[in-house]
Amino acid sequence: MNDLDPLVNAAQAAFAGAATPAELENAKARFLGKSGRVTDLLKGLAALTPDEKKTRGAAINATKQRVEEALNARRQALAEAELERQLHAEALDVSLPGRRRGIGGLHPITRAMERIEAIFASMGFDVADGPEIETDCYSFTALNNPENHPARSMQDTFYVDVKDAEGRWLNLRPHTSPMQVRYARAHAERHATALAAGLQTPEIRVIVPGRTYRVDNDATHSPMFHQVEGLWIGENISFKDLKAVYLAFIRAFFETDDLQIRFRPSYFPFTEPSAEIDMMFGSGPLAGRWLEVSGSGQVHPQVIRNMGLDPERHIGFAFGSGIDRLAMLRYGVGDLRVFFEGDLRFLAQFK
Ligand code: PHE
Repeated sequence: MNDLDPLVNAAQAAFAGAATPAELENAKARFLGKSGRVTDLLKGLAALTPDEKKTRGAAINATKQRVEEALNARRQALAEAELERQLHAEALDVSLPGRRRGIGGLHPITRAMERIEAIFASMGFDVADGPEIETDCYSFTALNNPENHPARSMQDTFYVDVKDAEGRWLNLRPHTSPMQVRYARAHAERHATALAAGLQTPEIRVIVPGRTYRVDNDATHSPMFHQVEGLWIGENISFKDLKAVYLAFIRAFFETDDLQIRFRPSYFPFTEPSAEIDMMFGSGPLAGRWLEVSGSGQVHPQVIRNMGLDPERHIGFAFGSGIDRLAMLRYGVGDLRVFFEGDLRFLAQFK
């Protein structure tokens, strides 16, 4: 123990009390700075004799060295603590699962369409696609709509600000029925020679799923919705075939035989007779309620003629079903609009 030990102790305590590099520099100034305590001691040497200077000087230098060692030790400790803090702050939890590319899924309406296509394909139906922007002729006239039929009115049908060759506004098709005539005409043209010779030609058996548009918007109607048209024309295709086909379809679609269908008389300009098809589940939350799922009927002779076929020879049925409605029933969705809002919390449930 010499008289300089308390100084070393004081320096060690001051450095230990410095919590940051800045505080440490302040403490260092108090001991090793220009007017620090160690520096003062060195200045005091001037008053001593050469011999005293030698021993006192050596003692002060040893003290200075111990203070510097204490300072360096503290500096290092603070730097290590800072590094530790940074490492901790930037720590990677390597046990967390990585961020993956999300796995998408098909939209529920697309899924319903694909089901419908697969079921009808298994019954020998072709699947066709048609234009969403239609002419007045295909949407209405060829389908035997009188000139003043309400479906034509601006309240029901969206019109496009472009006219067709006949000078009539184009429309966003309000149903998939225009494709009945488009498809059948193409068929009739393909078999024109055989038809002209009165020979037998292949039947027309097609479904047309797709987007349709009407001026309508509430929980069960959207301005854009989906229909599937069905058309089967041959030489002896009647309502009994419609009933068999539709019942087989609807049972396959809902994956249950525990449901019934019924035909309710109705009116469409392009079918005669016409019927609404209702279905009823035998069990489940909707059991016992008749639910309307489709318009249908025997294709009107005038429409058969417009197709380029002979109504004395070619007869058959058509139906037009709401795909969104079928999807709502299948998935238990109460509000049609959720299908089209693009909310992933809803859509991600269909995978
Ligand atoms: N196109 C009719 C509608 O949209 C449905 C329908 C199609 C009716 C085919 C009969 C035959 O309401």
